[in-house]
Amino acid sequence: MSPTRRAIVTGGTSGLGEACAVRLRADGAEVVTFDVSPGADVTVDVRDPAAVDAAVARVGTVDILINSAGIVGPNKPFADTTPEEWRTTFDVNVFGLVHVTRAVVPGMVERGWGRIVSMASMAGKDGNPNLSAYSASKAAVIGLTKSLGKELAKTGVLVNAIAPAVIATPMNATNTPEVLAHLTSLIPMGRVGLPEEVAALVAWLVSDELSFSTGAVYDISGGRATY
Ligand SMILES: NC(=O)c1ccc[n+]([C@@H]2O[C@H](COP(=O)([O-])OP(=O)(O)OC[C@H]3O[C@@H](n4cnc5c(N)ncnc54)[C@H](O)[C@@H]3O)[C@@H](O)[C@H]2O)c1
Repeated sequence: MSPTRRAIVTGGTSGLGEACAVRLRADGAEVVTFDVSPGADVTVDVRDPAAVDAAVARVGTVDILINSAGIVGPNKPFADTTPEEWRTTFDVNVFGLVHVTRAVVPGMVERGWGRIVSMASMAGKDGNPNLSAYSASKAAVIGLTKSLGKELAKTGVLVNAIAPAVIATPMNATNTPEVLAHLTSLIPMGRVGLPEEVAALVAWLVSDELSFSTGAVYDISGGRATY
């Protein structure tokens, strides 16, 4: 029997983060959600490193981190994107993730056990047209995961990412039927994924059963991924 683990789930009030929080609680973990939206256990903007440090310190011991806070950013041709849109997208999807990860890693290393799972995306592997900032930000998450996974490989802290295709969450609620049909047509299973399916993969990635994977990117795409 594993000891009770304490987890922080960023973006934990919606979509994939919420599904992960529900699943981890059901599995017996103590879960603290970090979000800017109402309903979070801790209201904190991951873009603010000082606020993140203070929030993590108040939580105390953190065994598990799920980085799910994220935004889509500009959905338009690359040439029409603005520097401000790029900055905003990277501030949340990359620097926000870095701030929370930096705040928890030293304690995990000291205790010799930790699990970090970050939401990358198929967009970070494949590149989705008209989502240049988002795709680039998710490629950055993959690069960070690979680097940190190798760096911490002998510490007991395992760092992995997942790359979902389209999952039915509020993030995709504003997609036009045409865009959704196109994205679904890329998926050999012919359907979008469910948050609970993602949470099931994450539950394994943060468990004691995970023992020989780090710096890896797990596909959850109904067969869309080709590498
Ligand atoms: N849904 C998909 O199809 C899909 C596919 C691939 C990857 N992802 C990634 O999974 C993650 C979760 O996506 P989702 O579909 O659950 O999205 P979502 O919009 O349902 O949830 C994202 C959450 O992040 C929070 N958030 C945004 N900015 C924040 C900030 N600055 N500080 C703290 N919290 C903030 C939001 O308030 C929201 O609760 C994202 O990183 C997303 O890029 C989603």
